[in-house]
This record gives sequence, structure tokens and C-alpha cells, in this order.
Amino acid sequence: MTDYQKKSMDFVGLKDKYEISYLDLKPEEITFKGKLNEPVHSWFRLTPSYSPYLVRLIIQRMELGKDKKVLEPFAGTGTTLIECKKAGIESFGVEINPILHTIAKGVTNWDLDLGKVGDIFDSLIAKTEMDIEKNKEIDLESFPAKLNIEIPKIHDVFRWWKPEILRDLLICRNNIVNWEFLKIIGIS
Ligand SMILES: C[S@@+](CC[C@H](N)C(=O)[O-])C[C@H]1O[C@@H](n2cnc3c(N)ncnc32)[C@H](O)[C@@H]1O
Repeated sequence: MTDYQKKSMDFVGLKDKYEISYLDLKPEEITFKGKLNEPVHSWFRLTPSYSPYLVRLIIQRMELGKDKKVLEPFAGTGTTLIECKKAGIESFGVEINPILHTIAKGVTNWDLDLGKVGDIFDSLIAKTEMDIEKNKEIDLESFPAKLNIEIPKIHDVFRWWKPEILRDLLICRNNIVNWEFLKIIGIS
């Protein structure tokens, strides 16, 4: 750890106030590595995430109870929010990146009707298979206008996907983003 990092830790006050020293913790107790085998946390890998273990340790040392509220101004994939939820502590998150914001909302929505989600997945898969089959002969030039799907503006797009693979992927993505499912899991 560099001097700068040590000074940052002193600034946060974790060492003096809560007796948490980063030097005593293993990498998986601080970094995203600690998320990889944990339920919910492992759904999305973000390397600048910190470990759920660290959040639990801070909640415990700060003696945060259900009467407290937590604000996470840099929510990322919701590590703090998930741990607060598990501990019954109300928490609020702010996240500027729309993808991470969507993920943080999804991972903290635990009030799902699993039967309904299963049914929706089944019909989503069935529709997507049908659409792919129906459009398998269509050429990529007429494809966007016909299906009202835009080809991503990625430089040299066919370097990454063969045309027929991209067409199937776009059909799949189109169905997902237009699907009732996103509303049901609370991220649309
Ligand atoms: C180091 S990551 C935090 C990760 C999070 N604690 C986790 O464990 O997943 C910092 C996050 O802050 C977000 N961020 C940066 N500037 C922001 C701002 N001005 N408002 C809200 N979020 C911001 C970034 O998009 C990034 O997801």
C-alpha cells in the first residue's frame, strides 16, 4: 500500500475510530474478489467494487442498527445497499452510470413473484426463437428498416460479429428491452 493510500485510510478514519486497518485484511476481504462467491453480489462483476465483507465489518464496527439509514453516494453494483438490506437497514444509493444504476436497482429488488418471472422468461425465449426462425433469411441491409432495429454504431461492427449472429443477437436484445419482464423486475 502506498503512503497516499495509507493517508486516505486515515482520512476516512476507519483505523482510529473503528479499528479497521486495511493492512490486516486479505485482498478478498476488501476488493471485488470477495463478491465472486456470494449470492446476489456475484450476479455482476465490477472490478472497482469493494467486498461485501468490508461492508459487513463496517456495519458491525459502527454498530449500525435498523434505526439507522445509510447513504451510498457511489452505489456501483449495490454492494453497500445489498448488505444493508440483508441487515434490515434502510439505505439509499446514487449511481451516475445508467448500466450500473440498472444493476443496482435489479439486485436490490427482492420482492419478485418467481413463478411470474419464470413464465415471462419462457415466453420471452419462445418469442425470440420464433423471431429468429422467421427472420433467418433476411439480409442485414433490409433488416434494420423491416424490424425497426438499429445496428449499433460500433466501428467495424462486423469485425466482432458475423452478420447472421449480429442479426440474431439484435432480435434477442430487442425482445428483452421491449419486454414486460424489465418492468416486473423493477428496472424499467
Ligand atoms: C468505485 S465504484 C463504487 C462501487 C460500489 N461501491 C460497489 O461496490 O459496486 C464508484 C462508482 O461511483 C460512480 N460515480 C462516479 N461519480 C459519480 C457521481 N458524481 N454521482 C454518482 N455516482 C458516481 C461510478 O459510476 C462508479 O460506479
